Amino acid sequence: MRKPVIAGNWKMYKSVAESVETALALKPLVANANHCEVVIAPVFTSLKTVADRLEGSNVKVAGQDCSTEMEYGAHTGEVTASQLRDVGCAFVIIGHSERRQFYCETDTFVSRKAQAALIAGLKVIMCVGETLEQREEGNAEAVVSGQLDGGLSGLTASDVARIIIAYEPVWAIGTGRTATPEQAQEMHAFIRRVFAQRQGEEAANGLRILYGGSVKPDNIAGLMKQPDIDGALVGGASLKADSFAEIVNYNRG
Ligand code: PGA
Repeated sequence: MRKPVIAGNWKMYKSVAESVETALALKPLVANANHCEVVIAPVFTSLKTVADRLEGSNVKVAGQDCSTEMEYGAHTGEVTASQLRDVGCAFVIIGHSERRQFYCETDTFVSRKAQAALIAGLKVIMCVGETLEQREEGNAEAVVSGQLDGGLSGLTASDVARIIIAYEPVWAIGTGRTATPEQAQEMHAFIRRVFAQRQGEEAANGLRILYGGSVKPDNIAGLMKQPDIDGALVGGASLKADSFAEIVNYNRG
């Protein structure tokens, strides 16, 4: 059985005080959510305080990115995966489309970051997804399989077992335009097939594939009914504790 993961990506929102307020409001609302792993990804500057305040709860903390470098060094502005562990992170998001689009992040970067994160003992949420143009040109699957191959290159089978894939069609992120459950399922099934070809059936059956892109309290249940959707990466709707909790508790109607 694949345990679902519901992760909130807070992007570049919230002060430390605001992050703590939301995290503490969320904690009791999801305290009984044993059916899934609950993760939030605040900005770097809030991570330590939020992780400390959530210690002992079922809400885990993620970084939104990490460096390709594993060792301390002269890399101004970067944060290593081990530094994320040090402040209490259990997960890191890598290769988000905003990083690919606006910060020139390539598949090579994504795979190096994944390796660094896995060595540091973090679980990796690796994002893939096509743009609207790529979908309209009929290239969505080719783009996604290319991102998977690039992102996973150089990783061993045991590394890959600690990776979670988030399929986030770029045209659905922050636009209010969710992929239909059927569209999402189709791509998730494709991702699992590609994964099976590269890593074997067993690894593919265990792989958790999250959907991201305008996930809201009113569309999560339909998405989660799909056989290959194992959770969600939520942006906008994760910024408020009550709407994120509704998403986490999708199974209670
Ligand atoms: P959204 O963002 O839920 O606001 O569309 C999702 C994401 O970027 O991870």
